[in-house]
Amino acid sequence: MSSKTPAGIAYFEFGPTQGTPLVLIHGFPLSHAMWDAQIKALSTTHRVIAYDIRGFGASDVGTGQASIEFFVDDLMGVLDALKVDKAILCGLSMGGYIALRAVERHPERVERLILCDTRSEADSNEAKVKRAKAVQSIQKDGIEPFAKEFVKGVLAAKTLESKPEIVKILIHQISKNSVVGICGALIAMAARTDTTEALPKIKVPTLILVGEEDKLTPPDSARKMAGLIPQSKLEIIPGAAHMSNLENPDVFNAKIAGFLKA
Ligand code: MLT
Repeated sequence: MSSKTPAGIAYFEFGPTQGTPLVLIHGFPLSHAMWDAQIKALSTTHRVIAYDIRGFGASDVGTGQASIEFFVDDLMGVLDALKVDKAILCGLSMGGYIALRAVERHPERVERLILCDTRSEADSNEAKVKRAKAVQSIQKDGIEPFAKEFVKGVLAAKTLESKPEIVKILIHQISKNSVVGICGALIAMAARTDTTEALPKIKVPTLILVGEEDKLTPPDSARKMAGLIPQSKLEIIPGAAHMSNLENPDVFNAKIAGFLKA
């Protein structure tokens, strides 16, 4: 079932209607649909909520002037709309940036944390310049050429070769989003805070997942977070790069199911 918060954020509920929900926060520049395999597997036993970040999927884009701060406000809006006091936050990449800032700003709303293919460090100067160039090229040439390059950079070589359906799914999801939404998120990621100093203050059990071949948010960044978050466990997902939930859903889902049960 889909609903919208008063701020225009579309959210979707699956599985049991009671209990602490697992809230799935998607990566850039996708939508909640990237979690299809997780929703199917995990909602048989757990309450699952997925939502579209502002500017993506069925959510409103607003002014297009985006910030990770506003994305955290929107996440809290989803929890408020559902009258959820505490949730298990699970974010992949940009979703992880949102989850990390959410636990820093609102620790009382987080019961557990799952950080997938993400990092606490802010963008380097080089990465900020790359984002600015991406905004210019999307505004000039449209989303498709960007989507094709993006997909090449986030999937393992083996996935690109042997799972063309994943490439298709990603391109399809990306091309459904708007230029304004995608460019807004690029600027938001470039301007995000560094959450590294807040990691030792995370007091909840935390699972960190990373694809063994992730080049964007590599295993070394995940190891660094695991070293700083007191109650954390790091799991490396084999046969996957940055989109570990899509590239190896069986192992990814099993790690989350085990963590939820523990
Ligand atoms: C994502 O997968 O959400 C983004 O690629 C993350 C990023 O560009 O920093």
